[in-house]
Amino acid sequence: MYTLRASITSVAAYVPPHKLTNAMLENMVDTSDEWIVSRTGIHERRILKEKNLATSDMGAEAVNEILVKRGIKGSEIDLLICATVTPDMPFPATANLICHKSGLINAFSYDLGAACSGFLFALETGRRFVESGQYKKVIVVGADTMSSIIDYSDRNTCIIFGDGAGAVLLEPSEDQSLGIQDSILKTDGSGVEYLRQKAGGSLQPASKETVDKKMHCVYQEGKHVFKFAVSNMASVCSEILENNNLSGDDVDWLVPHQANLRIIEATRKRANIAPEKVMINIHKYGNTTAGTIPICLAEWESKLKKGDKLILTSFGGGFTWGSTYLVWAY
Ligand code: UT7
Repeated sequence: MYTLRASITSVAAYVPPHKLTNAMLENMVDTSDEWIVSRTGIHERRILKEKNLATSDMGAEAVNEILVKRGIKGSEIDLLICATVTPDMPFPATANLICHKSGLINAFSYDLGAACSGFLFALETGRRFVESGQYKKVIVVGADTMSSIIDYSDRNTCIIFGDGAGAVLLEPSEDQSLGIQDSILKTDGSGVEYLRQKAGGSLQPASKETVDKKMHCVYQEGKHVFKFAVSNMASVCSEILENNNLSGDDVDWLVPHQANLRIIEATRKRANIAPEKVMINIHKYGNTTAGTIPICLAEWESKLKKGDKLILTSFGGGFTWGSTYLVWAY
């Protein structure tokens, strides 16, 4: 049994300035603002347009802000985990590049891939390093440049995704009532059928054919993913409440992955949490994959109070899904 808890002690996010609005998408594919808003809740998303910038640059922006806010040096960080499905390159890890750009000279680092659930999977991993007592300052980043793997002639996917990054600092807390209390994480590899990037890995290495057929872009059968997402995100959320003897009324904030407003609403209703307690910014940023949850935390940071009970929950490619119960520590 661990005697320490891992608490989030700082949070920051970065989204690029360029906006891709629904009106702009109307000029690119056969879609409409009305269809996108009513089916997803998305009005616009941010796109990393500048050449020579990539996922690590957005991640480093968030990490730099954390260091400044917490008043610490990069050299004090022991470990950085970056959740992403859009690394700068297959190797080295984007986490290593973030460390290099942010001066984390004493940290070891690696990437973790769990698509939209990546941040929660990385948070759970980082939590355990802190609870071991050996690692005092761990940064968990969720960052994705989805625009780098989107086919902007495919209306099934291009309307949903955006770019962005968020990061949290985890530190030990001896007060057991604060910090990450519980987590349930799940995977089902049969989901590969409905959501994947077909080429670029060892099964289908890059070739002229894979490029011509746009096999390096996101492939998604939205309806199937939607059904899985609605039932599984709602279930895992209810499960974590039950395991911790919490009712919807006890929860101060629900922080759901931002994939579709209808999925968020179904999860909220099933968990019986009041609408005003749900963090929603999907209208501004779309689905930033591993970025959504830490971006929400950063945006709501000023409203969060020490002792607030938060339920984080996600669903994504893999399939991967999960829920984390944590108590805000500052
Ligand atoms: O975060 C990772 C996990 N991903 C998700 O959670 C995404 C889950 N899925 C979804 O959010 C939804 O399935 C989508 C937003 C992707 C699609 O919404 P939907 O209500 O499931 O639509 P659909 O795919 O069933 O399509 C309904 C109709 C179809 O036309 P027909 O066959 O009924 O004539 C589509 O061709 O809407 C059409 N359609 C569009 N129309 C205008 C599909 N995409 C568009 C579009 N604009 N962009």
